[in-house]
Amino acid sequence: MSLDPIIATGNAAREPLRVPVHMGVIMDGNGRWAKARGKRRTEGHIEGVKSLRNLVELCITHGVAHLTVFSFSSENWSRPREEIAFIFNLLRRFVASDLQRLIRNNVRVRIIGTRAGLEPSLLRLIDDVEAKTAGNTGLVLVVAFNYGGKAEIADATRRIAVEVAAGRLLPEQITEQTIEAALYTAGLPDPDLIVRTSGEQRISNFLLWQAAYSELVFVDENWPDFNEASFMRVLETFTRRERRFGGIEAASS
Ligand code: IPE
Ligand code: IPE
Ligand code: MG
Repeated sequence: MSLDPIIATGNAAREPLRVPVHMGVIMDGNGRWAKARGKRRTEGHIEGVKSLRNLVELCITHGVAHLTVFSFSSENWSRPREEIAFIFNLLRRFVASDLQRLIRNNVRVRIIGTRAGLEPSLLRLIDDVEAKTAGNTGLVLVVAFNYGGKAEIADATRRIAVEVAAGRLLPEQITEQTIEAALYTAGLPDPDLIVRTSGEQRISNFLLWQAAYSELVFVDENWPDFNEASFMRVLETFTRRERRFGGIEAASS
């Protein structure tokens, strides 16, 4: 289990902030943000992309190594067709408009989720952005798109079952590591912090396996309103949390 780095905030008088190695974000509340302003839901999604761009910069500045954002869930298929099409186009536009900036900022992009059923042109785009940023060594930006935690675990189980059926793996050889290696997030550390905006307090099928020991922080702002001050407040909350991993308080040991 890796320990989170403690970094100075630049203000020597303040407590140093603990920065997560891997931060997950459930970017929720775009629709409510728009509704509160008499706008269409789609306008909330556009503003949400601006917040995401801003968050990427904040993670780079503050030294978060991995950022996973939930951008479209397997359950979001139940939304109106036009809204789904809009969100898909927004992903295309984000890649087109931000790819050069991501490369310049040394960001490595990884897209996790179910690929089956996605349009071939979208799949090419996903492969392209991953390939063009594969050599980058800075922030790892993981975009959970068409992602569901249960689907991910089912996919992993299927892959392991294929190995067992082929005689390459014995059932008694299956460990937590076998499952981890078969998940979409293979090779990534588990998120130490998961943030959800918009006041909802649930996981909604995000990183189910990986969230086993994540600190959960729920904030009231809708995603388009999440800014640098919100980010710093989240880090302050995370810094105050005592992570025990089933053990006892550090002071009692
Ligand atoms: C999050 O905002 C974006 C996606 C789920 C794609 P919502 O669209 O869920 O906004 P609310 O929760 O309806 O306000
Ligand atoms: C979770 O938000 C999914 C994303 C942010 C992409 P939802 O808005 O889909 O979640 P529920 O329906 O409120 O649980
Ligand atoms: Mg929502």
